[in-house]
Amino acid sequence: MEGINHEFDRASLIQSAISVLKNSYAPYSRFNVAASVLCSSGRIYTGVNVENASYPAGRCAECNAIANAVGNGESKIEAIAVIGGKGAASDPDSVTSYCSPCGVCRQVMREFSDPNKLLIIMAKSPSNYKEVTLTDLLPSGFGPDKLQ
Ligand code: THU
Repeated sequence: MEGINHEFDRASLIQSAISVLKNSYAPYSRFNVAASVLCSSGRIYTGVNVENASYPAGRCAECNAIANAVGNGESKIEAIAVIGGKGAASDPDSVTSYCSPCGVCRQVMREFSDPNKLLIIMAKSPSNYKEVTLTDLLPSGFGPDKLQ
């Protein structure tokens, strides 16, 4: 990986997501999600899901975290931690299942990563998580290389 040690601290990345989970805006589904991305620069950016009265205008936590990173000049992500569940904004300890990124989020991740290397860390807590690569979740994906 470019400048990133694969042995980075998973617990810290997950904790970054948990620290913003309270900001999740999900008055319609009540399903609160937070994400944190580790970029090749070593910097971390966070995002939460932001729903809307016009339902399709809602945005996922992962997409918002990636947009936050790109807006700050990043172009490559190395890892993303995701945590979420019903009512999790008010009680992060209540998360009982791993939140798997939706299809749109997987495609957005594809744009800014090496799919064989990007680590997706689905967490219930800083010490309880499941880790896969983007290729595991989006095999044979369509990426920017196809348009070159
Ligand atoms: N959600 C995310 O933020 N990320 C995902 O990967 C799955 C779903 C959000 C979207 C919506 O605000 C709520 O969870 C319920 O679908």
